[in-house]
Amino acid sequence: GLLTGARLATLDAATDDGGSAAAPSDDRDGASRYGLIEAGALGWRDGRIVFAGRMDALPAAPADLAADVIDAGGDLVTPGLVDCHTHLVFAGDRASEFEQRLTGDSYEDIARAGGGIVSTVRATRAASEDELLAQSLPRARALVADGVTTLEVKSGYGLDFANERKMLRVARALGDALGVPVRTTFLGAHALPPEFGGDADGYIDAVCDWLPRLHAEGLVDAVDAFCERIGFTGTQTRRVFEAARALGLPVKLHADQLSDGDGAALVAEFGGLSADHVEHTSAAGVRAMAAAGTVAVLLPGAFHVLRETTLPPIDAFREAGVAMAVATDCNPGTSPLMSLRQGMQLACTHFRLTPAEALRGATVHGARALGLGDRGVLRTGLRADFVRWRVREPAALCYWLGGDLVASVHCGGRRVV
Ligand code: NIG
Ligand code: FE
Repeated sequence: GLLTGARLATLDAATDDGGSAAAPSDDRDGASRYGLIEAGALGWRDGRIVFAGRMDALPAAPADLAADVIDAGGDLVTPGLVDCHTHLVFAGDRASEFEQRLTGDSYEDIARAGGGIVSTVRATRAASEDELLAQSLPRARALVADGVTTLEVKSGYGLDFANERKMLRVARALGDALGVPVRTTFLGAHALPPEFGGDADGYIDAVCDWLPRLHAEGLVDAVDAFCERIGFTGTQTRRVFEAARALGLPVKLHADQLSDGDGAALVAEFGGLSADHVEHTSAAGVRAMAAAGTVAVLLPGAFHVLRETTLPPIDAFREAGVAMAVATDCNPGTSPLMSLRQGMQLACTHFRLTPAEALRGATVHGARALGLGDRGVLRTGLRADFVRWRVREPAALCYWLGGDLVASVHCGGRRVV
């Protein structure tokens, strides 16, 4: 296929022709770079990009590409969005918990009283695999409808072997149903299920026992844990990471979300793909992440919904050259957010990311947080995952709250929206 007459935001520094409007003077790590190409063309074949550049540099289009030409009419075209952190497979919802928080109870209070994550575990266990798929599909479909072409889904509402397996199977089935790649993350160490009667160490033994069995079924791409006062300790997290390492699986971590538990340094020590949330990460944690190349995954939806006030150390990440990704964290408790574009908006308003940083965070850096180097940039040889938007300015993606800006979504060269 061939798309012409497009404003390409390639996010590829090499192709930047200086066309980014109103670039701030601060230009660290692509803070203001979209890799913009005016009057651009994008060609693809067999799911890969074969041309991304100026129309006047387009070689005489080969017949197979020319047979399928779309004129973008000056619309903006970006890489497909990558949502690298979601918990969108679950049953039920927690709207009543939202009401409860608004009248004064905190997220931690509710968790300690047996609500929170554990209430979603009850609902998820009670749902059949088909019911779970039926309830989760609209959320995944909403993400794709707003430009997502790769998404990650975590387990963590099953908390026993059969139900963690059920969640991961549903995550894989979502990808098949929607025609987009779904990466699965095993988050057995999300909360302590009631049947363990407070024995967190015993539960971690079980998690480490399930992991190789789930991996053997091809259900696990990465391993995560919730390292927090209401989650698991650093020592327990370390045991889960050692089990992952024994299988050659990459790790990531819910790190320093509600308090500084040295989570960022711990996941960096294991060469982790990402430290996620990171509101309370210390300067030492930032240094460890920079040294290990661990991505900071910013989750402004959870920050927003929990009415948090401690900002992640954004300037320190910039200065240390830590890549920042932006994701929805779509989940029933802290972030019932079904649009990554809306997540980019929240990242700009709450965290003061530049729109270019937010776009890179939701594309190339999100891909990096999943260990994927073949997407997130419009460049020859990479996957033909791209979105045509009904806007011209890249900043407009971060500007509108809600609305429908998508003209079409293409994944692996196939139109999916
Ligand atoms: O990313 N912090 C832990 N996990 C989720 C929330 C899960 C839930 O409340 O259901 C998060 O915020
Ligand atoms: Fe999360």
